[in-house]
Amino acid sequence: MSSITIDAARKESKINRNIYGHFSEHLGRCIYNGIFVGENSKIPNENGMRKDVVEALRNIQIPVLRWPGGCFADEYHWKDGIGPKETRKKMVNTNWGGVTEDNSFGTHEFMELCRQLGCQPYVNGNVGSGTVQEMSEWIEYMNFDGLSPMTELRKANGHAEAWGVKYFGVGNENWGCGGNMRPEYYADLFRRYQTFARNYGENKLFRIACGPNVDDYNWMDKVMASAAPFMDAITLHYYTVPGKWEDKGAATGFTEKEYYATLKKALFMEELVSNHTQIMNKYDPKHRIGLIVDEWGTWYNVEPGTNPGFLYQQNTMRDALVAALTLNIFNCHSDRVVMANIAQMVNVLQSVILTEGDKMLLTPTYHVFDLYKAHQDATLVDSYVETGKVGNENEEFPQMSVSASVDEKGVLHITAANAALTGSEPVECRILNKAAAKVSGRILTGAMDACNTFDAPNAVNIVPFEDIAVKGDTLTFTMPACSVVEITVE
Ligand code: AHR
Repeated sequence: MSSITIDAARKESKINRNIYGHFSEHLGRCIYNGIFVGENSKIPNENGMRKDVVEALRNIQIPVLRWPGGCFADEYHWKDGIGPKETRKKMVNTNWGGVTEDNSFGTHEFMELCRQLGCQPYVNGNVGSGTVQEMSEWIEYMNFDGLSPMTELRKANGHAEAWGVKYFGVGNENWGCGGNMRPEYYADLFRRYQTFARNYGENKLFRIACGPNVDDYNWMDKVMASAAPFMDAITLHYYTVPGKWEDKGAATGFTEKEYYATLKKALFMEELVSNHTQIMNKYDPKHRIGLIVDEWGTWYNVEPGTNPGFLYQQNTMRDALVAALTLNIFNCHSDRVVMANIAQMVNVLQSVILTEGDKMLLTPTYHVFDLYKAHQDATLVDSYVETGKVGNENEEFPQMSVSASVDEKGVLHITAANAALTGSEPVECRILNKAAAKVSGRILTGAMDACNTFDAPNAVNIVPFEDIAVKGDTLTFTMPACSVVEITVE
């Protein structure tokens, strides 16, 4: 038996909707074929964007989308991706499979995608191989409405109005693929580049610095020490890799031991966010600067027979649990975490959507984003869980993970995950300071390696969670093994 206590009156931080953000890189089949098929494709599209994919993404209310990378961002030259498609310069995507990038998806197409999705664009600039002038002009091109060379160019390319991009990243992984820099050097470059990343009109740019890889606390400390006053947020990247980097483990056909090891590694996010927050507190005690986890998720060996540079992997209930645990962590740290972007949206790493030709499927991870969407912009409330431990010997972790929020209408949203693989777990959930007048639920559950395939796209799906008994201030229900629930209390 697990017990949960939620105090609806103990309000904590606002859960920034951008925690439910996504990431789309020019990598494998994420942009090309996954999202963008071009106007002349037989696959139904609007201005080149797949209608099925856009509709599915609108359903989970994706708030913000990061683009064009990733490692690709630091070799991307934005002027190659504007103007008539026939004359756009081609390039080699050296990071991802050495394929030829024809630049048919560029700034205008990305903004059109964000328009269709109803989300905010988050553009990642090039520090590693780009100039200050190039970055500065990109921002002028996207955001200036007055008379200027970049405004004229944008108008000549068919878009009269400025897009007013707010979120702008100054480099990506500059400790690695973005230039192999030392933190001191990057901090100086950040100060310089961001100086010329101008605000135009009413639009105030939200300047995002490149933060550490995993537990590189030295990077966080050095960059914050020297550049904190110049940034609005700093990033963190952490991937859950069950095995070793050279042999990460398979996305399907894994053992129970690997399942638990994966979840244990995913929970390392809690320690990372706490420790990086401690360092940020030294330089920013008032929490003006946000932490943005703009790359997170599982990373396995690619599916057999697919291009190793395309990072295509299946997605199972194990991934659903990773997403549920991680999103609960972000909710609970929403006083510092202001955005997160799962990697990546379609056909790459822990995707919410997979495509094959004109077919599309929603992964178990997609369904977790669906179950959690009511937390967007709600207020986190205090929750306390008493639960047993599960996992491998010497690598145990709490069986249940929970977060709760109250939205602007006063509705309480509880999301809970049961990581155990055997038995079902009776749960008593006491709710203080809120009457449980109307209670409803939805659940996602299945075997640890259950997944959706193009032959059986609905094998794993959300169903109503009906057996919730209400007595006084206590809800009683039973969570099946390997499950994620959303409970709504009105
Ligand atoms: O998401 C795949 C890659 O992982 C990104 O391009 C890079 O930033 C990270 O190393």
